Amino acid sequence: MNYTSLEELQGACAECMACPLGKTRTKSVFGTGDAKAELMFVGEAPGEQEDLSGVPFVGRAGQLLDKFLYAVDIPREKVYIANILKCRPPKNRDPLPEEEEACIGYLREQVRLIRPKIIVCLGRISAMRLIKPDFKITKEHGEWFERGGYLMTAVYHPAALLRDPRKKEDMLEDMKRIKQKLDEGKGEYKA
Ligand code: URA
Repeated sequence: MNYTSLEELQGACAECMACPLGKTRTKSVFGTGDAKAELMFVGEAPGEQEDLSGVPFVGRAGQLLDKFLYAVDIPREKVYIANILKCRPPKNRDPLPEEEEACIGYLREQVRLIRPKIIVCLGRISAMRLIKPDFKITKEHGEWFERGGYLMTAVYHPAALLRDPRKKEDMLEDMKRIKQKLDEGKGEYKA
C-alpha cells in the first residue's frame, strides 16, 4: 500500500474484501479524528454500534473513553482513533490472525500518513499486535515503549473497565501520564 491521503485510503477500505468480514459488515470503520493528530488511539475492532455508524468507539465503551479524554483535558476531535480491524467480527469475537494480517496494512498507512507522536493501544489485542506478542496488559499498561520511531503505550480497553470498574483508577493515572507526555513534547517544540 502507498496512498497519498487518508481519504484515498478510506475509499479503498470501504470496498475491501481482503477477508471474509467484508461480507458480513454493515460499514467498514476506518478511523476518525484529526489527520494531523499528535496522539493516536488504536482499539481492537468495531462493535455493533460502530458497524452500524461507520465510526469507531461510539458505543458504551466509546462513551467511557470520551469521559477519560475529558477528564485529562484532551479533546476527542484533536486525537485520531482507529482499530486493528476495520470490520466487525461476528458476535464481537476476538480477531483471527488472518483477519489482522489482511487488515493491518490500513493501520500502517494511517500511521504513516498521520505521523502521531504517541500511539496508545486500547487493550490487550492492540498491544499484542503493535507492541509485542506477549504483552501483559495487567502488568504492563502505562509503560512506555518505542517501536519504529513511535512512542507507544497501552491502557485498559474501555470495555474491560465496564466489566471491572476497579480498573478505572489505573486508567485515569495512565491517561494523566499520556497527557503529561504530550505536554512535555510541546515544550520541546517551543524551544
Ligand atoms: N471496541 C473497539 O475496540 N473498537 C471500537 O471501535 C469499539 C469498541
